[in-house]
Amino acid sequence: MTKSPIIIALDFPNLDEVQSFLGKFKGESLFVKVGMELFYAEGPKVVTYLKEAGHSVFLDLKLHDIPNTVYSAMKRLASLGVDLINVHAYGGTAMMRGAMEGLIEGTPSGKSRPLCIAVTQLTSTSEEQLHLEGFTDLALADMVEKQALLVKEAGLDGVVCSPLESKRLKEVVGSDFVTVTPGIRPAGADIGDQKRIATPADAKRNQSSYIVVGRPITRAENPVLAYEQIQKEWEETIL
Ligand code: C5P
Repeated sequence: MTKSPIIIALDFPNLDEVQSFLGKFKGESLFVKVGMELFYAEGPKVVTYLKEAGHSVFLDLKLHDIPNTVYSAMKRLASLGVDLINVHAYGGTAMMRGAMEGLIEGTPSGKSRPLCIAVTQLTSTSEEQLHLEGFTDLALADMVEKQALLVKEAGLDGVVCSPLESKRLKEVVGSDFVTVTPGIRPAGADIGDQKRIATPADAKRNQSSYIVVGRPITRAENPVLAYEQIQKEWEETIL
């Protein structure tokens, strides 16, 4: 199954709401993201449910702990059969290597290892906040670039970053480096708490491998139509 480049963030409080949302898509195979809210409420069974329903799953738990703890957690999470998973780049290269080791060891035989990416800077972080609270004078784009190089050095597959940073990272780190970009807002959509945003078309022009879209789809009056419009905008954007 080829994976859609559009990942829908299932930011719902429980499985009932997920089922009612996905029911609108009438069995279409989607690429969905399970974040902290849903995973902490429902646990691993939500992933099993989504995989059995034929969806690709990005498990967005942003692990950040000592290397051995992240290794053990990843070993367990790999057994769930997720397609994409992440850690926080701030955990450092030893932690990221531990994550990869856990994923390799925990992937059931005959299955492929989940892609592993690292969060660089949250798309809700502004340049001002990075300077005030991030203990660095580096420009945000330079900070993200430094982090991405460490992510690559640790052997991960790519990063979560802003769509505005994707193109530069592919130039610096390599064109096969996966960039997964949240902070997507179709023209005219409510920005909410996101700061470094782009439209689906701009994200594609900036070479995002995958875009993550939450509220513009989940809170739309007609989520299927909102999804299809984003899909159309993506497909019609020629590089
Ligand atoms: O609703 P919205 O489109 O803003 O949702 C974006 C999703 O991507 C949320 O689930 C959020 O947790 C996630 N995310 C993000 N920025 C990151 C990493 C993940 O917005 N750097």
